[in-house]
Amino acid sequence: MNDRAAPLIPEIVPIGLGDRSYDIHIGAGLLDAPGSFDGLPNSSSALVVTNTTVGPWYAERLVACLQKRHKVVHLLALPDGEEHKNWETLQTIFDALLAYACDRKTVLYALGGGVVGDMTGFAAASYMRGVPFVQVPTTLLAQVDSSVGGKTGINHPAGKNMIGAFYQPQRVLCDLDTLNTLPPRELSAGLAEVIKYGPIADMAFFDWIEANIDALVARAPTAMAHAVRRSCEIKAWVVGQDERESGLRAILNFGHTFGHAIEAGMGYGAWLHGEAVGCGMVMAARLSERLGLVDAAFVARLKALVERAGLPTVAPVLDAEDNAGRYLALMRVDKKAEAGAIKFVVIEGPGHAGTRSAPDAVVAEVIAESTVPR
Ligand code: NAD
Ligand code: GLY
Repeated sequence: MNDRAAPLIPEIVPIGLGDRSYDIHIGAGLLDAPGSFDGLPNSSSALVVTNTTVGPWYAERLVACLQKRHKVVHLLALPDGEEHKNWETLQTIFDALLAYACDRKTVLYALGGGVVGDMTGFAAASYMRGVPFVQVPTTLLAQVDSSVGGKTGINHPAGKNMIGAFYQPQRVLCDLDTLNTLPPRELSAGLAEVIKYGPIADMAFFDWIEANIDALVARAPTAMAHAVRRSCEIKAWVVGQDERESGLRAILNFGHTFGHAIEAGMGYGAWLHGEAVGCGMVMAARLSERLGLVDAAFVARLKALVERAGLPTVAPVLDAEDNAGRYLALMRVDKKAEAGAIKFVVIEGPGHAGTRSAPDAVVAEVIAESTVPR
C-alpha cells in the first residue's frame, strides 16, 4: 500500500429501480462503521451467511455491529467454493432459517464473495416467499459485479447459474478494506469484471484501467476505490434500464458465454469465474473481429490488459476429439441461447456491445485459435 487511504466517508452509488431502488456504499471500514446500516430494516432477528474462509476474518465484527440493531444475530458458515454453489448448500441456509425460527422480517446478510452472495440472495428470495437481504461483498468481483443488480442463484451440473431469481438487496456495502486479505488470484479474477466495463460501455474507463493496472494489482486504495465506484456506476446504469435482462443487460455478460463453457467444461472451481471471464472476453473480442466489428489492434489491446491483470488468455482444450463441438454444446446451455441458437455478446465498436448469433464454423475458428491442450 503506497497510496493514501481509501475514502472513509462512503461514496454512494444509487441504483434506480422504482420501489426496489437501493444504494451501493463504497468506502473503507464500512463493515462495522456507525451508520452503515442506518435506514435498513431492524427486525428482531438476522442471519449472517458467510463461508468458512471469510467468516474467521470478518464475521465477528459484522455480527457485533448488527447486534446493536437486531435482538438475535445468527451466523452460518457455508463450505467455501464454487463447487458448493448448489441445492445441497442452499438447503443448509433454509435449514438454519427454520431451526432458528426465522420469520418473514428476518434480515439475511451475505458476507463473502459472489458464491455466498448469489446463494444468500436466492435463499432470501424464496424463504417464506421473500425476506430482506443486504449484500456485504468481500471480493473485488462481488463488489464490482455480483452483489449489484439482484441476480441470485445456484449452478446445475449441466449449466452455470441455471436456477435462480431476480431479487434485489436492500443495500450493498463495499468495504474496500476487506480486499486486503484477498489472495492475488482472486484479485485478478475481480479485475476481469472491472476490465469488462470498458469495452462494453466506457472506453475512457478502459484507458484509465490501462494506465492504472499496476496500481490495481498492487491494491492501491485510491485506484481500487475508483475502479469499484466506476464499475458500480456502469452496472447501476445498465441494470436501471433493464433489470430483468430483456435486452441491454446482456452486455454485462461480455466474455461469459465462452467463460461459462470453460467453467462447466473444466468442472466448477477448476478455473475461477473471473479467470474464465478474462479468457472469454479475449475469445469474444476475437469473434467480434471475425464478424468485422473491431480490428485486430483492439483485440490485441484487450488481450494485453487481461494478461497484465494476471489472467489467462489461452483456454483449455475440453475434448481432444471434438473440441469445438464440446464448447458449442456447453454454450448452447447458456441462458442467452434462444431455441438452441447461441447469442454472443460482441463488441460492436470500442465502448459499445450488443448480442449476435454467429455461424458455428466462425465460432469454431475462434475456439481453435484460442485453445491449447491442458
Ligand atoms: P467466491 O465467492 O468463490 O470468492 C472467491 C474466494 O475468495 C473464496 O475462496 C472466498 O472464500 C474467498 N474470499 C472472499 N472474500 C475474501 C476476503 N476478503 N479475503 C480472503 N478471502 C476471501 O468467488 P467470487 O469471484 O467472489 O464470485 C464468483 C461467483 O459470483 C460465481 O459463482 C459467479 O457465477 C457469481 N457471479 C454472479 C453475478 C451476479 O450478477 N449475481 C455476477 C458475476 C459473478
Ligand atoms: N453479471 C451479469 C449481470 O449482472 O447481469
